[in-house]
Formats: sequence, structure tokens, C-alpha cells
Amino acid sequence: MSTAPKPYGVDARPKRQATAKNIVAMKGGTPIVCLTAYITPMAARLDKHCDLLLVGDSVGMVLYGMDSTLGVDLETMIRHGRAVCRGAKQALVVIDMPFGTYEESKEQAFRNAARALSETGAGAVKLEGGIEMAETVAFLSKRGIPVLGHVGLMPQSVHAHGGYGARGRSVDEWEPIIEDAKAIAAAGAFAVVLEGVAEPLARKVTDAVSCPVIGIGASSACDGQILVTEDMLGLFAINPKFVKRFAELGQSIEDAIEEYSDDVRSRDFPGEEHTYKMKGSNS
Ligand code: KIV
Repeated sequence: MSTAPKPYGVDARPKRQATAKNIVAMKGGTPIVCLTAYITPMAARLDKHCDLLLVGDSVGMVLYGMDSTLGVDLETMIRHGRAVCRGAKQALVVIDMPFGTYEESKEQAFRNAARALSETGAGAVKLEGGIEMAETVAFLSKRGIPVLGHVGLMPQSVHAHGGYGARGRSVDEWEPIIEDAKAIAAAGAFAVVLEGVAEPLARKVTDAVSCPVIGIGASSACDGQILVTEDMLGLFAINPKFVKRFAELGQSIEDAIEEYSDDVRSRDFPGEEHTYKMKGSNS
């Protein structure tokens, strides 16, 4: 009998909304497919292809034009979380805890994470941080709130770290990141996002923890991948090295708008076929 991990394929993929347990079972198997989502129609399109949809605090930069994620509040996350849950039937929906809503104490984290789940219908929360957040992760996990950790490059710490540059590109930077991942996993996180690290470090982290590691800018060594959907669709101007653009929708939108404006100005739109007739009229 084969001892290979069971791929999360046709037979194992849930027909109802996935839970954190489904994601845990995917460690070492078929890579876990994750994307961000902020609105219902996009969530509905992504849902059938993804195992996990993250309502990321990147919503602040992608939809609201903020220059970092720090200004996003819990109300915004809840509003977008609800919208995504309306579109998602099968993927696990995870709500990102915004900056300032969970770091102060484990009680503050529980109060706000409980709101994020009970007011949206999502199945888990994500929070950034390593060893310093382990106690909080344990507190939430033991009280029924599945937690997705986030270590390596942590965008909410952009001021402390001095930018969004990749981490772990020299071996002396490895140890704290490995220890962070181990602490969060040991505290009960069902999976950990590993962002912006060099490939050999990603491999070490993935081997070092028993829960799935979901990479963003962290090579194919991880158990799964996540990208910001608007980045990979070519809808967002910034194009970091780790993003593959699977479409150029930004250009398609501009082309469509140019055609629309030409048609309106030339009166080619609306045409006969877009125009209401009087009742009883044949033409
Ligand atoms: O907010 C976000 O979109 C994230 C990433 C992991 C994509 O945290």
C-alpha cells in the first residue's frame, strides 16, 4: 500500500465549505491553492479553483489606494469578509486581523477575532507575528478560533523592518524566522503563511513545522501558494519579482473603456439592440 500523502484531489476536496482541518490534511500533498478575495463576484469565481480564500488586509492598498496595510480597520475587514462569504461555497475563508486589533493582549485578540468569525461566516483568522504572538495563537486556537500564522516578511511591521525587502537572503537571518514559524505552529496554528524569503530558508521552514506552510514570494518549496488576486491578474500597478501575471486585465479594462468612450462620442452606443421600444411597436 502506498504511503504517499493522499492528494487533496477529486475525492477529498470538500463539496461544502472547507475547514481548517481540511487544510491541515494537505501538508506534503498536492500544493494548497490560495488567493485573496475582497468582493462577492470575485470570490464566486475563485471559489471552485481554490482551497483557501484570504480576505487580506491588502484590501487597503488594492481597493482603497492606501500606501500600506496599517490604516485598515476591523469594520472594513468584516464588511469585505461578509461579501466574500456570500460568494464562497467551498473554499475556506480566512479573515486577516488588521494592525492594532490583536497585538495588545490575547483577550483583545479573542474579542476581535470572535467578531471577525461571527459577523462574517468565515472559518479562520490570520495574524502576523512569531514567538511574540505564540501565546495569543494558543489562546485563540484553544477557544475555537482556527489561526493562520504569518511570518517572514510581515507587512504590518514595515516601519520596524524598514521596508518590504525579502528576508533570509543570508544564513545569519534564518534562525529567528525558523523559530517564529516553529513557535506559531507549536501554539496551534493550522497553517503558516511564509512571505518574502529565499528558497533554502523556505524549504527549512516547511520541513521544520508539522502544519502546512503557504508561501508568497517564498519559492515552490512550500506546501501551498498564495498571491494577491489583483496582482496575478495584472490589475494592480506594482509588479514584484515573485508575482507571475496570469492575465493583463488592467490593459483589457483600458481597451474596453476606450472603445466605450469612442462609441458614446460617435453615438454608435447605445445601438438599436440596447434601446427600449414602445409596447406594441414592431420595430
Ligand atoms: O493581506 C494579504 O493579502 C496577505 C497576503 C498573504 C497575500 O496577507
